[in-house]
Amino acid sequence: MPEYLSGHVHLGDDLTSVVILDQTLLPSRAEYLTLRAPEEMAEAIRLLRVRGAPAIGICAGYCLAALAEQRKALPPDQFRVELHRLAQCLGSARPTAVNLSWALNRLGLLAHAMGAASPAQIAAALREEALSIHREDIAMCRAISEHGLTLLKDGDGVLTHCNAGPLATSQYGTALGPILLGHERGMNFRVFADETRPLLQGARLTAYELDQAGVDVTLICDNMASMVMKNGWVSACFVGCDRVAANGDTANKIGTSGVAILARHYGIPFYVLGPTSTIDLGCPTGDDIPIELRDPEEIRSKFYAQPMAPAGVKCYNPAFDVTDHSLISGIVTEKGICRPPYRQSLAALFQ
Ligand code: MRU
Repeated sequence: MPEYLSGHVHLGDDLTSVVILDQTLLPSRAEYLTLRAPEEMAEAIRLLRVRGAPAIGICAGYCLAALAEQRKALPPDQFRVELHRLAQCLGSARPTAVNLSWALNRLGLLAHAMGAASPAQIAAALREEALSIHREDIAMCRAISEHGLTLLKDGDGVLTHCNAGPLATSQYGTALGPILLGHERGMNFRVFADETRPLLQGARLTAYELDQAGVDVTLICDNMASMVMKNGWVSACFVGCDRVAANGDTANKIGTSGVAILARHYGIPFYVLGPTSTIDLGCPTGDDIPIELRDPEEIRSKFYAQPMAPAGVKCYNPAFDVTDHSLISGIVTEKGICRPPYRQSLAALFQ
């Protein structure tokens, strides 16, 4: 695995900045950005320079820790007010991936629990917590990969949507983790990657990561998934997740629910892979998951040499959709594989 894929988000050496690989430039250019101001951090998340639910959580943790370090000379009361304001600013960047608020809440609770500690002590503790989130993610990806690999056999074809690989996490990824791990162990898989309109994470990132790793990958347009399934080329669908509700309904990149419906039609198992930090028991069903709406220009003109739609034509551009739990064969977490009924199996993860 190329080195930068495992270190594409990290704290700057000065401890007051965060360094990210700008994913919007891939696969043409691998350029790193150093983020210092809260607005540029939030913007990097909003514009998907860093993206993928777990990576967003890791990045948010580092951002809050870096901003706390910048402000450690403030009087304690002012420091606490600032910390709250900064967490709100970062947390409002994207609504669907629960890992963003999960990571910020984790740091916020720690700061709160430290009571009368000095700003410098709190800043140091937040840094350690952000590093822990990152380290845990590495272990989490590895465990998900091991569990997910039990669902595959050598030679299998797998269809995936969007990008849930190392660039969306820390290492291995979630949906791509079993494939990359199995490949390291000498297994062979054929992966069909949906290009994932409109932002093309499948084409730009998934095809790139798998190709770099030497995995057999075939890029398809989203509307070709049915044909690939009908041809009998895939034995499972593996996708990531941005938020899993208590009943198993799962938000993931727009188009995922269509893949699940097709998979059911063709009798192909459909698996969601994600960490327990993406499970939100506070959301009873998928109807309670906030869905991000994005700029219509992503559909009308982005990535085209010329606009491909009449200027000003109405567009509907939700970034995520919800796959009904009834279509999901299993939810693979770092603690094991949850099977229906999900209300019970997901709740058991937290007992
Ligand atoms: O808009 P994105 O690129 O952040 O969407 C990413 C996805 O939908 C991923 O599948 C999900 O975050 C899981 S990443 C392990």
